[in-house]
Amino acid sequence: MLKRTLTCGELRTAHDKQEIILNGWVNRRRNLGGLIFIDLRDRYGITQIFFDPGQKSEMIEIAKKLSYEDVIAVRGIVQKRPNDMINKEMATGEIEVIATQLELLSKAAPLPFMVADRESASEETRLKYRYLELRTTELQRTLAIRHKAAREIREYYTENNFFEIETPVLMKSTPEGARDFVVPSRIHEGKFYALPQSPQTYKQLLMISGFDRYFQIVKCFRDEDLRADRQPEFTQIDVEMSFVDEEDIFRHTENMLRKVFKNVINVELPEKFPRMTYAEAMTRYGSDKPDLRLGCEIHTINDLVSQCDFQVFSATVQKGGIVAGICVPGGEYYSRKQIDLLTDFAKKYGAQGLAYVKVEETGFDKGIAKFIEPIQDQILAEFDAKPGDILFFVADDEKVTYKTLGAVRLHIGKVLNLIDESSYKTTWITDFPLFEWDEEEQRYFATHHPFTSVRPEHKDFLEAAPEKAMARAYDVVINGYEVGGGSIRIHDDDMQRKMFKALNIDDQTAREKFGYFLNALTFGTPPHGGIALGFDRLTMLLAGTDNIRDVIAFPKTTSASSLMEEAPNFISEKQLEELHIQVVKVNK
Ligand code: AMO
Ligand code: AMP
Repeated sequence: MLKRTLTCGELRTAHDKQEIILNGWVNRRRNLGGLIFIDLRDRYGITQIFFDPGQKSEMIEIAKKLSYEDVIAVRGIVQKRPNDMINKEMATGEIEVIATQLELLSKAAPLPFMVADRESASEETRLKYRYLELRTTELQRTLAIRHKAAREIREYYTENNFFEIETPVLMKSTPEGARDFVVPSRIHEGKFYALPQSPQTYKQLLMISGFDRYFQIVKCFRDEDLRADRQPEFTQIDVEMSFVDEEDIFRHTENMLRKVFKNVINVELPEKFPRMTYAEAMTRYGSDKPDLRLGCEIHTINDLVSQCDFQVFSATVQKGGIVAGICVPGGEYYSRKQIDLLTDFAKKYGAQGLAYVKVEETGFDKGIAKFIEPIQDQILAEFDAKPGDILFFVADDEKVTYKTLGAVRLHIGKVLNLIDESSYKTTWITDFPLFEWDEEEQRYFATHHPFTSVRPEHKDFLEAAPEKAMARAYDVVINGYEVGGGSIRIHDDDMQRKMFKALNIDDQTAREKFGYFLNALTFGTPPHGGIALGFDRLTMLLAGTDNIRDVIAFPKTTSASSLMEEAPNFISEKQLEELHIQVVKVNK
């Protein structure tokens, strides 16, 4: 085999007249009036190769038959291109290589899609032939970003005295609120391991063991409904520290993210990220992961509309609900038809309707203008509304109003192109409630997880009024993505028992499930806390994609399958038998 002396991204005019050898894939082949040009590609770039048909050699015969994605080796002489032939789009565009010897290393079969044109195939086809899709410039780029980010992260934590410690993948179930993936035990009939939804208990045990500062870039597994930013197996940057409070976790997370953004995509994140309470995020943005690249905040106008002529509004205020609205520069865009479509969108979030009014030079127009004319000036002032704007309102119970307006706000932001895609807006969300009430199961769930500390001044709420208890938990949000979440932990066993009790986990179950952990807490536990960041989501932000599959080499589809190797799949009778498992059809 002709072994390369350089890569396809390296040649410049300084190499003029040198003899070199390149290896790579045929990215493109052109026949121009008998002249053969090949774009040869490898991970590092693309170089143009020229075959002179004047030489009626064997080489020309092979070159004529080359097709897309064949793997070849070429010996040749580097030649400066004439000025009018320089290709400024290509890093190697000032030269080409005049081939003198050609070796076909591997012939490619007819392709299911063009590697140079990723969009030429459906995502399904691309996932089936993922190894081909991974050849595309787009995915070569995103995985390079992922690698660089991982390296910066490891460097940051290492420089700051954190140890990377691996934790088991076959473990006992710990709750993070999703369903476990389980693995049957061959040796222990009828028993199962769970795959970690996160290494939460292990990292706390490592603090009890005295490791003081831990991090790990680690796979987590959650059997939950998938979305554009969720995978059944995903990667966390998992962190835990001893003898700390929130400020220490914030500082290290901010510094780590600043280093990653600076060194991977040359973006400066702020020295200190702004902070916002959960309650504030919900009332101003209708979401606990607000996208702060977009203005158009939600304003609550109960005070203004409690006596107004629009029945829907005044009645809602009377019933203890919330009337709120947003103001967007879309008066012209929002025709009757567009408003109807937006109303249907709003109804999906539970709203009864979506009231609106347009702002003209002369004042309110259309929609509910005639009902709220008398309070026009106050409303204009509240929203700082200008001619050309349109106001949308929802009146409902608190949850529905804010959630709907939050969704409408983002939707309009996208439709009207109000989001600056090149900016990065970070924020901490703090002061989460400790519990969430689940209507269906009629019990409280931990908003973060059951190992999260209550605010010291709310200790007594644990038994008396769980809904009022605030957690020492926090999330870090970038551009509307929940990039990470963590908390200061409970570090005494008595408190941990109380927490389980509030979650309706009785003593016996707690002992069965977490006995080892409760026990460990009794042997001298340092106050500790931590955070986990979604590494895939972080890479999405760095790479500027909104599809999590773009940043994972071999991802799953939204139905949790791999189209390439066809996983999950059936296993043999023999395997089932060894695992003491019988598959039975259940009629639903
Ligand atoms: P949490 O459950 O908030 O916290 O997870 C931390 C971060 O992991 C990312 N993430 C996901 N990314 C892709 N696909 C998924 N299915 C998925 N689920 C979560 C998110 C999220 O913010 N043990 C705690 C952390 C702690 O308290 O230290 C935990 O796992 O970006
Ligand atoms: P109606 O009186 O039902 O014809 O509604 C008049 C306008 O108010 C329509 O634009 C509805 O979409 C809107 N609307 C109705 N109910 C609500 C509500 N609860 N919140 C906001 N707008 C509403």
